[in-house]
Amino acid sequence: MKVKVSRKAHFNAAHRLYHKDWDNKKNNEVFGKCNNPNYHGHNYELIVSVTGEIDKNTGFVVDMKILKDLIKSKVEDALDHKNLNVEVPEFEKLIPTAENISVVIYNKLRPHIDSSKDLEVMLYETPRNFVTYSG
Ligand code: NI
Repeated sequence: MKVKVSRKAHFNAAHRLYHKDWDNKKNNEVFGKCNNPNYHGHNYELIVSVTGEIDKNTGFVVDMKILKDLIKSKVEDALDHKNLNVEVPEFEKLIPTAENISVVIYNKLRPHIDSSKDLEVMLYETPRNFVTYSG
């Protein structure tokens, strides 16, 4: 019997979407306002889900306190109030789209979640735009 448990988190971050090998015209065509050279911010909402068997002793799939602390130390401390392009090493050569941010978050968390459990990262860049990555 597998159960999925989820924890919501939040961070603010700035980014700029552009491809360094493209000229400004091409970047504007592809990324529009997100290519603003002065960056812009988003209020990211994050939902981290862990799916697995319920532990017979604890009744938990995952200890929510541990999951909460993990999200804080691995994700929020790394991304909150940061300029993703400038301050986060993972985006030195990777365009910080919601898709790529969700993969980076997954990769930060995956080593710390028991391998018998499935991990899913859902990232809302706006209330209407969100992406999901589960490895
Ligand atoms: Ni944006």
